[in-house]
Amino acid sequence: MKLIASIDQGTTSTRCIFFDKKGQIVSVAQKEHKQIYPQPGWVEHDSSEIWQNTQEVIAQARIKKQIKIENVEACGITNQRETTLVWNKRTGKPYYNAIVWQDTRVGKRVDELEKEIGSAWFRDKTGLPLATYFSGLKIQWLLENVEGLRADAEKGDAIFGNMDSFVVWNLTGGIHGGIHLTDVTNASRTQLMDLKTLAWDAEILEKLNIPLAMLPAIKPSSMVYGQIVSEPLAGVPVAGILGDQQAALVGQTCFKPGEAKNTYGTGCFMLLNTGTKAIPSKYGLLTTVAYQFENQPVHYALEGSVAIAGALVQWLRDNLGIIKNSSDIQTLAASVDDNGGAYFVPAFSGLYAPYWENSARGVIAGLTRYVTKGHIARAALEATAYQTLDVLEAMEKDAEIELSSLRVDGGMVVNELLMQFQSDMLKVPVIRPQMIETTALGAAYAAGLAVGYWKNTDDLLENWGIDKQWEPNMQETQRDGYRAGWKKAIERSKNWED
Ligand code: G3P
Repeated sequence: MKLIASIDQGTTSTRCIFFDKKGQIVSVAQKEHKQIYPQPGWVEHDSSEIWQNTQEVIAQARIKKQIKIENVEACGITNQRETTLVWNKRTGKPYYNAIVWQDTRVGKRVDELEKEIGSAWFRDKTGLPLATYFSGLKIQWLLENVEGLRADAEKGDAIFGNMDSFVVWNLTGGIHGGIHLTDVTNASRTQLMDLKTLAWDAEILEKLNIPLAMLPAIKPSSMVYGQIVSEPLAGVPVAGILGDQQAALVGQTCFKPGEAKNTYGTGCFMLLNTGTKAIPSKYGLLTTVAYQFENQPVHYALEGSVAIAGALVQWLRDNLGIIKNSSDIQTLAASVDDNGGAYFVPAFSGLYAPYWENSARGVIAGLTRYVTKGHIARAALEATAYQTLDVLEAMEKDAEIELSSLRVDGGMVVNELLMQFQSDMLKVPVIRPQMIETTALGAAYAAGLAVGYWKNTDDLLENWGIDKQWEPNMQETQRDGYRAGWKKAIERSKNWED
């Protein structure tokens, strides 16, 4: 049986999944990597650990089901977006740990640029507001803080990549001729690419003082980029790259304008396909590239990015220890009837969409002696649903549409309590597909389309089916009460880090 390999280099783990033609999982392996927190607000990853894990998960996934290399038609890559790495192309060594998308170290720089140039200038060109989230300012920070890096970057020896570029460079030979490229979706998250020309923007590079020589070539999301030379997949073409949220949009087969998905992972990311039109946002969303298949026009999306969703459950597990396993959250939350008046705003990396408040920090509001850990667990789950509601409302205003349902995926959608509450808050049906590993599937689709494994998107549409659907079922007054409590809590989280 012929298969497609997909590598998902995510924020908390790296996975390799082999898919068959029906989009079903044949084999999967996964490994978590360390989260490094050198200071409050800083988040880093060790890129050598990530590359090591990537090789291990590919090997494990192959071994588990005895997958022969001649049966692997192509490989797709998907990745945590924005996370920034600079390494030396002669030695393969990184200049610094990867600076993770959630990292807030460039907060001051954001404020300065806000005053000097203003967010609108960046938004017009790139679709993105000034924020700590994107790669450009992280690259600038590295160039200014790592000794010797600027000189190497100007020579073209020090090269930048998001995790897609890093993985592809290593898979295709590393210091022995690895290819240095990225796809349009990842490039659109650097805040260095012009959204219309799909090329690096010379004016932005000049303002941030970033040498062009260090940037990867920008390519479509689906095409044969080159051959893998490293062992577990040697000889297989790399043929698809998509940032993970765009990959989920493709995995959910949201190919028509007006179709949207929400992925509940470390963070929570809602993307609405807006077709070949890039719609500028007035209500705090991002305009971003959705995908570009080879020889086809680029498709755009509006995105509502929420930094902390599943990460809050991990925080309750790892930092507070009130649950042992992430899956225990549902039982704990279900041990009480409601949130007991408590609201949890997890603004650990500031607030993303639609607020874009770099200086916000997390708060638990509404506490009384009545509140138990059950209520805190419930408030933590509800936080994801309220944040999604904020994003959906902005999306409907920006795109001037009313969403009739929402397709969901990602780790948290196994949580029935959350899904029902989500539907209650949004007042639309929430639909979980049979295959919730849509991120890895989307990258596999991009790779499979490039090599003719799937002929066209109609082939992919046939693979999508519904597993479960939740209908809204809450009194309007009760819903309004929750919403008002959330809005008050949001106000309390703002302007913390001045
Ligand atoms: O923009 C950040 C996003 O790509 C991270 O996704 O699934 O790794 O949390 P995830």
